[in-house]
Amino acid sequence: MRHFDYQNGEMFAEDVPLSRIAGEVGTPVYVYSTATFTRHYRVFADSFLDTKALIAYSVKANSNIAVLATLAAQGAGADVVSGGELKRALTAGIPANKIVFSGVGKTRAEMGDALMADIRVFNVESLAELRALNEVALELGKNAPVAFRVNPDVTAGGHAKISTGKKENKFGIAWSRAEEAYAEAASLPGIQIVGVDVHIGSQISDLAPFEAAIIKVSGLIKRLRAAGHTISSFDIGGGLGIPYGNNTAVPPPPSEYAALVKRLTADLDVEMIFEPGRMIAGNSGVLLSEVLYVKRGEDRDFLIIDAAMNDLLRPALYDAYHDIEPVMQPDLDKIETYDVVGPICESGDTFTKGREMPKLESGDLIVLHSAGAYGAAQASQYNTRPLVPEVLVNGDEYAVIRSRPSVEDILKAESMPDWLTKHENVTDI
Ligand code: LLP
Repeated sequence: MRHFDYQNGEMFAEDVPLSRIAGEVGTPVYVYSTATFTRHYRVFADSFLDTKALIAYSVKANSNIAVLATLAAQGAGADVVSGGELKRALTAGIPANKIVFSGVGKTRAEMGDALMADIRVFNVESLAELRALNEVALELGKNAPVAFRVNPDVTAGGHAKISTGKKENKFGIAWSRAEEAYAEAASLPGIQIVGVDVHIGSQISDLAPFEAAIIKVSGLIKRLRAAGHTISSFDIGGGLGIPYGNNTAVPPPPSEYAALVKRLTADLDVEMIFEPGRMIAGNSGVLLSEVLYVKRGEDRDFLIIDAAMNDLLRPALYDAYHDIEPVMQPDLDKIETYDVVGPICESGDTFTKGREMPKLESGDLIVLHSAGAYGAAQASQYNTRPLVPEVLVNGDEYAVIRSRPSVEDILKAESMPDWLTKHENVTDI
């Protein structure tokens, strides 16, 4: 069931009317549904109940600590890519032995924090990183559990900017160098080899690239074992896509993905690790916004809304499609065509062009759907627009889980060097 849907003529998030949140918190604001997060996590995890598997939710998709705690309560682990995300995951109560650390450029300080926390595994992406990790581990008297992220040279992903498994991408150990990387790792006293890792891209809408990658990596696991390495985990990353709306490809359901993974890995005797992000968070949230103005252009109408590309970057950065609906159930006889745009001073600040939608007016509320993943997490304060707040709904209650800073809060983080305070007209912040 949809947890963002019309009840008595207006859209609710679970049992809370969105108009109430807009009135009390203001717009723009992200609104998340606990029930949807939980259901998506359960659908994914339950497809692997009969398998040794760790579901390490990819924190980057939506990193709010309340969201992480919601998933932790379901048993989720975490895939983190920075010391900051590690801190978030631990703060939200995700046990360290369910945390995997990915990323192509971990710093020594981040490695140290993760070693001291005793995380499950470091997904290492280069020999230079491996050597640094070995040194940090030895300094701290630790042994770093390592899987190499390998680059299987497979094409996958909904957009060039989120495709990661080709040899020209910066990610992973080059396929032809994987075995020598394991040989070197085996010789380092601060490193313990535990597994293999791969992540080929995001918003993947068919199973073929997963199949290709799993087959290639399974072969590698067999060769590594034959060379004497202990490979007990196989992390196949995230990447399973979600339906975004009418003109985008519909990805297979998690049950089909799970069936494929199980079929291809049945004889490997490994613990599987998954790093789903979008699949869990994407359709668990909407961006709620108010129409500021309708402007009649030369050859088109612009719907100018109070959300902008700094709040939801996906359309500007990846030409992403998001369904847009009015909060008040519309009269479907009155359809108009709009370019939906934000207030930022760039033409790229456009959510969609030439979209047929119910007629809207100044003051109307709208939602941009499928905004729970890579929405708030990628927001900025460009144009000095305060960071967009986040609200989590749970049944008939809601809580602000990230508040909107004031402009004063923003200015407080900046400071005036001495040589400028002497100028006339400079006000104290
Ligand atoms: N694991 C690793 C190592 C990753 O780099 C990613 C995503 C994931 C897991 C989770 O992938 P997912 O299940 O969410 O597809 N900002 C872009 C997506 C960037 C994905 C980056 N890596 C967007 O809004 O489409």
